[in-house]
Amino acid sequence: MPRLTERPAWQALTAHARQLRGQHMLQFFAEDPARARDFAAEAAGLYLDFSKNPLTRETLRLLTTLAEDTHVPAQIGAMFAGSRTNITEQRAVLHVALRNRSGRPVMVDGRDVMPEVVAVLEQMRAFCDGVRSGAHSGFTGRAYTDVVNIGIGGSDLGPLMACRALAPFASQKLRSHFVSNVDGAHLAGTLAGLDPESTLFIISSKTFTTQETLTNARSAREWLLTHFQGGSPPEAVVARHFAAVSTNLGATTQFGVPPDRVFGFWDWVGGRYSLWSAIGLPIALGVGFERFEELLAGAHEMDEHFRTAPLPRNLPALLGLIGIWHGNFLGATTHAVLPYAQDLAWFPAYLQQLDMESNGKRVDRAGGVVDYATGPVIWGAPGTNGQHAFFQHLHQGTQATPCDFIVAANSEWPLPGQHEILLANCIAQTEALLRGKSTEAALAEAKAQGLNADTAARLAVHRTFPGNRPSNTIVFDHLDPRTLGALIALYEHKVFVQGAVWNVNSFDQWGVELGKQLATGVLQDLRQGRASDGHDPSTAALIDRIVKARRKDP
Ligand code: F6P
Repeated sequence: MPRLTERPAWQALTAHARQLRGQHMLQFFAEDPARARDFAAEAAGLYLDFSKNPLTRETLRLLTTLAEDTHVPAQIGAMFAGSRTNITEQRAVLHVALRNRSGRPVMVDGRDVMPEVVAVLEQMRAFCDGVRSGAHSGFTGRAYTDVVNIGIGGSDLGPLMACRALAPFASQKLRSHFVSNVDGAHLAGTLAGLDPESTLFIISSKTFTTQETLTNARSAREWLLTHFQGGSPPEAVVARHFAAVSTNLGATTQFGVPPDRVFGFWDWVGGRYSLWSAIGLPIALGVGFERFEELLAGAHEMDEHFRTAPLPRNLPALLGLIGIWHGNFLGATTHAVLPYAQDLAWFPAYLQQLDMESNGKRVDRAGGVVDYATGPVIWGAPGTNGQHAFFQHLHQGTQATPCDFIVAANSEWPLPGQHEILLANCIAQTEALLRGKSTEAALAEAKAQGLNADTAARLAVHRTFPGNRPSNTIVFDHLDPRTLGALIALYEHKVFVQGAVWNVNSFDQWGVELGKQLATGVLQDLRQGRASDGHDPSTAALIDRIVKARRKDP
């Protein structure tokens, strides 16, 4: 099989990019009156406008050919069918089974996994109802008022992002907190405001071996037992104040979590794809199990669309292929995610893990080093805040950064007038990026403001916007559980499509291992008070410098 970059579809896109270079998107709109209508697609309550990207109908045709040529449709089918898509760990990739509402079986190694999925969902439902009704309570019989999720990476970012996104739907009686960082500031700062008698901890860890999570969990247990010391049996206290979510049931028992408070999941659920499993327990506790099911239903609707829609109308495929166009043919190296929704403040960070841990890969599935760019740097922040921070770079910097604007037409908060301002800013930014402002227009504007001819001419160039800057806009009616489910699934599948074209395994994360291994040695050095042999000179000097500084600290 020819290398990806040598395939006719890739070469055709390279030549096509050369032809389009220098053309302005406004020209595309002028030449193609149906562009705004046809370069938009809708599914599962999400409307995607991709017309403000430097591409034509021919580009879309060539990108679709590339996807077909790299067997994207077959790869989608294989994932849904339970194939061992994660080839380096020999695992199926079936987060879609966790939200399968179709009643169809999902087979792994000839066995339907749906009965187990449903059983854990029912266990979650019973636990959520018990906690929310007060039937489950702390050791002294007090109802829980605070849930602290202790986890990191996929065992933190998914539930954290979703809990914050669904804040308007959350119970006021049960606050959710998330502790991930092994920096004691995170746990100590969180516990400072909490009452041990009404606090429920959830230890979320797929492996139950993650250093940060287990360290925080042990400290939380100590904090709890310190409060209850003097007669209360520690096992009974822990049993009433801890729950766990993990695939490592032996380790959860060893920690002291009773089996009826342990929620299992499976090795075919990747950490960054796990919020649909019991890792989503904090979400279900926060918004109630029915709303958690709505989240699953929204994701399932997107799954069905992704599985069945033809590539040119398939939202995740479109987002993925447009990203490939930017990264592999137009030279973009980063991608900005700009939710115009304060409730989606954690969405860029969530997508960072989803995308960069999945497709930040330099070796293809056959083990060859790739000669093309794979996953871009994902970054972003909520609008309108970003406008007053980094948008300068988007409008007038030397690089054109592809952006995703994400916005709900309606607000869930009781200040409806403010939402129109938010919407206006979102839409105006996409327009400004597209249209820009010519030097002539800037000059005329400066003169109209009363500046003299010299000053106006000097400033006009600084006030010029090149425009022709790319963006997608994703619009939906409400940021509710169903829509959020669809939105997350949209990005999960976008990442899948890109990994499929790039022929990388999007479902392992070996890149996080080396640092973990080396940290063990560095920790030993810090504890013994000197750098051991074998470090490079810079690392050894840093260890010694820190040891010296810590000795001064009483
Ligand atoms: O170190 C990376 C990672 O393995 C992520 O992929 C994962 O989401 C996170 O750590 C947490 O792992 P666990 O859930 O096993 O504690």
